[in-house]
Amino acid sequence: MDKHHFYQNSVQCVEAEIDFVAETFQTLKKRPLKTLREDFCGTAQTACEWVSRGDNHMAWGVDLDPLVLQWGQDNNVTSLSWSQQKRIQLLEADVLDVPVQCIDTVLAMNFSYFIFMERPLMVSYFESVYQSLNEDGVFFLDAFGGYEAHKVLTEERECDGFTYIWEQATFNPITSEMQCYIHFETDEGVRMDRAFAYYWRLWTLPEIREMLLEAGFKTADVYWEGTDESTGEGDGVYTKTMLGTPDAGWVCYIVAEK
Ligand SMILES: C[S@@+](CC[C@H](N)C(=O)[O-])C[C@H]1O[C@@H](n2cnc3c(N)ncnc32)[C@H](O)[C@@H]1O
Repeated sequence: MDKHHFYQNSVQCVEAEIDFVAETFQTLKKRPLKTLREDFCGTAQTACEWVSRGDNHMAWGVDLDPLVLQWGQDNNVTSLSWSQQKRIQLLEADVLDVPVQCIDTVLAMNFSYFIFMERPLMVSYFESVYQSLNEDGVFFLDAFGGYEAHKVLTEERECDGFTYIWEQATFNPITSEMQCYIHFETDEGVRMDRAFAYYWRLWTLPEIREMLLEAGFKTADVYWEGTDESTGEGDGVYTKTMLGTPDAGWVCYIVAEK
């Protein structure tokens, strides 16, 4: 019963995420991505994936919580080769104040930046990311929404050996603030309630795009997921567009160029 193990095997798909980030960076900048900072890194699985993919790749992971960083160090970083471990650094720091500068790309994934509830605070986070980037740097974020995102609900998904349970416990339409939980239950019926708790503001895409531009980014483009015609589900291919679909629940990427 290890909540970080369950999280990594249900929430994250770092291979697909890094594919998207590296390919989009190459397309936009006509050069390969080299240095990456993973904000809100948790176990730093994405940063580890990055350094494992190339001999000159470097990564920094930033998180406030020393316990999750230690788990990432013990379980993810130490699984890397010695030469890969020398190219990754985990920092216990607030993302609002990170000393790592001059990097190609910053990631803020799994909606972690939704913890900033007020507009000025969000803009100051985006400004600090802007300052940290190289002159041709790119900021990658994700976002979720859809009409079910505003509902109180519980959803379950079968994973390998356990069930992932996502609960939207409260939603306040006046502030757009919501309380969410992740629970896990093993196939043997052992339950881990509230393994992760998030109190967030459900920001809309127009708000996020406006704040990125206000912080100085010259673009703030949405990459929307295509649909697999046979299943009607998302096909994992994200394309830049200004026309989304009013789905019950969606996840997209936002790409902001300095
Ligand atoms: C939703 S988890 C994301 C984990 C991982 N990035 C992922 O993609 O799955 C949010 C993480 O953000 C961290 N966090 C929250 N506020 C932070 C802040 N101001 N600065 C740095 N890390 C923060 C928490 O400790 C937690 O590990």
